[in-house]
Amino acid sequence: MKIPSDKQVLVTSALPYVNGNCHIGHLRTYVPADIYVRMYRKMGYVVTFVCGSDTHGTPIVLTAEAEGVTPQVVVARYHKHFKEIFKELQVDFDYYGQTDSETNHRRTEEIVTRLIENGYVYEQVINQAFCSSCERFLPDRYVEGRCPYCGELARGDECDQGCGKHLEPGEMIEPKCKICGSEAEFRNQEQFFFKLSSFTDFLISYLDTMGGTQNAKNYAMEWVKKELKDWCITRNLGWGVRFPGRDDLVVYVWVDAPIGYISFTEELFRDRAKGKGKLGEDGQEWRRYWKEDKAAIVHFIGTDILYHHCIFWPAMLKGAEYSLPAAVVASGMVKIDGRTFSKSRGDVVWVTEFLERFHPDTLRYYLVTQSSHTKELNFSWESFAMRLNNELVAILGNLVYRLLSFAYKNFGTIPDGSIEEEILIAITKTKEESISAIEEYEFKKFVDAVMKLADFGNSYFQREEPWHLIKQGDRDRKRAGEISLNVLQLIKAICILLEAVMPAKMEEVWQQLGMERDLHSVQLDELLVPVESGKALKKPYRLFERVEAEIIEELS
Ligand code: MSP
Ligand code: ZN
Repeated sequence: MKIPSDKQVLVTSALPYVNGNCHIGHLRTYVPADIYVRMYRKMGYVVTFVCGSDTHGTPIVLTAEAEGVTPQVVVARYHKHFKEIFKELQVDFDYYGQTDSETNHRRTEEIVTRLIENGYVYEQVINQAFCSSCERFLPDRYVEGRCPYCGELARGDECDQGCGKHLEPGEMIEPKCKICGSEAEFRNQEQFFFKLSSFTDFLISYLDTMGGTQNAKNYAMEWVKKELKDWCITRNLGWGVRFPGRDDLVVYVWVDAPIGYISFTEELFRDRAKGKGKLGEDGQEWRRYWKEDKAAIVHFIGTDILYHHCIFWPAMLKGAEYSLPAAVVASGMVKIDGRTFSKSRGDVVWVTEFLERFHPDTLRYYLVTQSSHTKELNFSWESFAMRLNNELVAILGNLVYRLLSFAYKNFGTIPDGSIEEEILIAITKTKEESISAIEEYEFKKFVDAVMKLADFGNSYFQREEPWHLIKQGDRDRKRAGEISLNVLQLIKAICILLEAVMPAKMEEVWQQLGMERDLHSVQLDELLVPVESGKALKKPYRLFERVEAEIIEELS
């Protein structure tokens, strides 16, 4: 999707449930979003990037219950964990909040009240799973049983092992209590419902113009055209945002979680207005984004939460009179040897474990190059090793180290000369390919294009053989300098582009090139600005280490 150049951009990535550690599957939402943000800034847009912890819902309450602590204890622990991971990975949010904040409670109450006033909420008595030995209703993940659609084992709110459908309270077959294991019974209980079904026509026209990845549009359109069922938006739980006027009910976590996107934008601009950031803002800036259609709102998510973002969320926004998202970008799921991530089966790769051995940038690189964004990504250590050894070490690392060593040893500074047509054309082409790939959320295509430029750099250097020339007379020495200058220009361009993917490693290359400006703020306009002759180069060192087969065997 091409965003008009005068529009601001608000990028969000799905809020992690803070009931456990971050695994590499999560990162497929966060890393591409971060790359997208960095690239749009380089393209000259004003971009705001928000996220935060999803602190409500039954997964967190269940974890807390199992540990015998309050939900707040669990939330605090994993909120900190996720923040640390994002820092290490340089997933650089402008604001990272949490959904149990004051602002989010207020904003959720306001939106739900507005939906009630606008006639989109009704009360209904439903037959709901109840555990007589625990003496309580069993919302969402408190209950397990069989999916009424496909018959597979499922949890109360979704068929996670089978067809992937969202399940409404009371829909599950053969429900069992997750706490004590006994068979649940059904009991009547009044709940509140959101009239999702009345948004069918709106959604059909909205989805038609919604930007984002094709998978998001296609799935959502299919669901809408089949039939939309109203959503139960209340739960019998103590932890969450109170349903207005009812002390015994909280809103379903999928109500207050996406509203977090709004609240975090609010909190960000309020903080900035308080003087932590730019001056002259009054803290109401968030309205431009969420009330006045002044920004393109782009949501990054995984395909497992498409229904919530393409159907439920736009209907809620529409019903409460808020701005609508411009695009939903959905990644395919990360699997291990074809199997869904599962903590209980041990089929999971934790990010902290990964970082004990490898640089965070190598993970960022792998996550976007291993498969295109909307496809599944089948993780294996072997495939990671191949990307690291054959691409980062053999192509990119080789180009940078070989050329910089040559130039540093023979000249010490950036040599004189002019940039050849062939080099300018290659850079321009890569720039264009990169922009159009990013606009299409084709992160792999983008990185592959830049790696092709690195490959071209290697062949150019090899073809020109400056190491022969340097031993000859002055004229040849001058030519060897010019060849180096041209490769340096390529490296500069690669550095600016790949900063979006590997910010830490490209910063190192930037230093080796002797550059002083802050790489993160350098824009794509500068790709063709000639490197400065006469500037001192730094002593180069190798960027990436090969990983040996024994290590991979040990990890697999
Ligand atoms: N809390 C909800 C999102 C609320 S957004 C208003 C949630 N949390 S999550 O922790 O389960 O997932 C966070 C993000 O990670 C989601 O975008 C989800 O799609 C993504 N992934 C979690 N596991 C994943 C894989 N195995 N593979 C790819 N993405 C995955 O959903
Ligand atoms: Zn029970």
